[in-house]
Amino acid sequence: MHSTRKLVLFIAQSLDGYIAREDESLDWLLKYEGSGDNGYSAFYETVGTILLGRRTYEWILKKVQSEFPYQGKECYVFSRSLSGRTNSVTFVNQDIASFTASLKAQPGQDIWIVGGAQVLNPLLRDNLVDEFIIHIAPIILGGGIPLFKAGTRETSLDLVKVTQYKEFVELRYQRNESGPFG
Ligand SMILES: NC(=O)c1ccc[n+]([C@@H]2O[C@H](COP(=O)([O-])OP(=O)(O)OC[C@H]3O[C@@H](n4cnc5c(N)ncnc54)[C@H](OP(=O)(O)O)[C@@H]3O)[C@@H](O)[C@H]2O)c1
Repeated sequence: MHSTRKLVLFIAQSLDGYIAREDESLDWLLKYEGSGDNGYSAFYETVGTILLGRRTYEWILKKVQSEFPYQGKECYVFSRSLSGRTNSVTFVNQDIASFTASLKAQPGQDIWIVGGAQVLNPLLRDNLVDEFIIHIAPIILGGGIPLFKAGTRETSLDLVKVTQYKEFVELRYQRNESGPFG
């Protein structure tokens, strides 16, 4: 039976596919404003659960001065080094793909993979990501943390929408159920 709860990657990258510099800085991304909120609030309303890797979580904590930005949503942070929970998140040290598959089987709004690449990789391997919403910043970085690692499972997609937000282009893809040979 198909789940109706989608697992969605919503992320920004450089034109050459990096989500951060090697030292995790996002200066190259944050210098662009785009247009309005670049579709963020409309997307945010569709999600009930949020998945993060520990490095992405800590990057957010360092940058955000006030309240955790996803307060009120069900947030899971994958980590082998942190455990328990805070007021905002629950730490998870379980197989990423099987934990996420069980979330998808529960009723609720969509699930957002904030990132980073380490958390995304096992979800791609098990073909769990239903939608990809990727904002491309107009810069070639030449190095950094790649969104898709070498050896990522071949995944066939349907391009469903292209939107321009001033400097950004947003590409929306759905996983093609028939797969690469369909
Ligand atoms: N451009 C964007 O829109 C965007 C979006 C999101 C993130 N980012 C950037 O991406 C960078 C981080 O990405 P990343 O790929 O390096 O790291 P990440 O995926 O955010 O986090 C990696 C961490 O996740 C935990 N982890 C990984 N595999 C696990 C497993 N199988 N089970 C349990 N825990 C596991 C480990 O935490 P422990 O070390 O605690 O064990 C690991 O160090 C940050 O700089 C962030 O700012 C950019």
